[in-house]
Amino acid sequence: MNAVNHSDVIKIGLLGCGTVGRSLVDLLAERESELIRTTGMRFQIVMIGVRTISRVTLPADSQIEVTTDTAALVKNDNIDIVIELIGGVEPARDLVLAALNAGKPVITANKELLAKSGSELYQTASANGVDVLFEASAAGAIPILRPLRESLLGEDIKRVMGIVNGTTNYILTQMSDEGQNYAEALSQAQQLGYAESDPTNDIEGYDAGAKAAIMASLAFGNYVVASDVTHEGISNITKEDITFADELGYVIKMLALAEKFADGEIGVRVFPALVDKKHPLASVRGSYNAVFLEGEASSELMFYGRGAGGLPTASAVLGDLVDAALNLRRGMHRPVIHGEPASIKPASQMRSSFFFVIDAKNSPGVLSAIAGYFSDQNISIKAMEQEPLAGDDTQARMVFLTEEALDENADAVIKLCEASDYVSQVKSFFRVLR
Ligand code: HSE
Repeated sequence: MNAVNHSDVIKIGLLGCGTVGRSLVDLLAERESELIRTTGMRFQIVMIGVRTISRVTLPADSQIEVTTDTAALVKNDNIDIVIELIGGVEPARDLVLAALNAGKPVITANKELLAKSGSELYQTASANGVDVLFEASAAGAIPILRPLRESLLGEDIKRVMGIVNGTTNYILTQMSDEGQNYAEALSQAQQLGYAESDPTNDIEGYDAGAKAAIMASLAFGNYVVASDVTHEGISNITKEDITFADELGYVIKMLALAEKFADGEIGVRVFPALVDKKHPLASVRGSYNAVFLEGEASSELMFYGRGAGGLPTASAVLGDLVDAALNLRRGMHRPVIHGEPASIKPASQMRSSFFFVIDAKNSPGVLSAIAGYFSDQNISIKAMEQEPLAGDDTQARMVFLTEEALDENADAVIKLCEASDYVSQVKSFFRVLR
């Protein structure tokens, strides 16, 4: 056993002891001697702050004090570093600010808090000369925020694209690999503990949107908040959509896409997209996450791994803990560079190519009329296929793939179709990742 003197002990106050907090307790115990060997420090959780003490189950020989007085914990002189794993904006925000104002570095995994109030936390940390670190807030175990803050600080990053929600990626993978419909895949995701009983946050893209806001702020050096992100969910995707996409050489993925445009504006959105099967993101399956970056000098980079779960997320928290402790002992901190609020490009002004499946009358002039809706909106058709609708030879199913165009023009084509006597339905509509 390595000898550690008193000053080498880093005393930790942990807020929250759910899945990630409990995994962190175990991980720190498991890694204790190795951390002493590599850092010269012993990391000791001295206090855990929770709402309900009876819900905390610690090892039988644990010396950790459990308290409901979280306000006292964050100011406790015996605590060097605070780790916030309670989630949600309040009371987490108040507690994190209080800890920073008490001169304690804070580690948080709280994407909701950072995507709403990150700027306030970063400024408060800097004003107090301490770190606020948050690797676990986006894409779990995947080291993506530290590379953005350090290795790629000088890089001109153009796009950040992520599959950053394991629940939706699991559902879409089950639909595509196992032929399940949406309801079956969601139910399986809930049984496995990926999706919550109310899955809205994952399914409608709010979880991915918060992660995208955090990544975009660091990638582009302009502050993006959750309310800047537009969302579309996956609950309307059908097995047929997956099959149409497959036949054309695509998979459907729920993407978080942050882009910097030539005019300096930043666009961030979460939406289901067709991804070419040859694109590296197409191979990210099940509950795995990945983030794909495009930089001017670095070119393409991809980071892949577990985006959720107790131990993977605790692994990212532990990395931040070691970093914060080393900085604390050196008397330094690394400010979060996040710049002025971003000028946000409206989703209607973003461009991509589009995929439409349109059911329409099978009679002379219909194809020409529908093609006219595209040309009216200045959208060029790249490919088109038509087949009779099964069981109804008065109807045809038309699949259109377009060249790149503005979102608002694609939206106008949908409206023209909906108003048309020829069209019975716009069955599917997706953007295609370029
Ligand atoms: N619910 C998220 C997911 C993990 O499914 O990826 C936490 O952000």
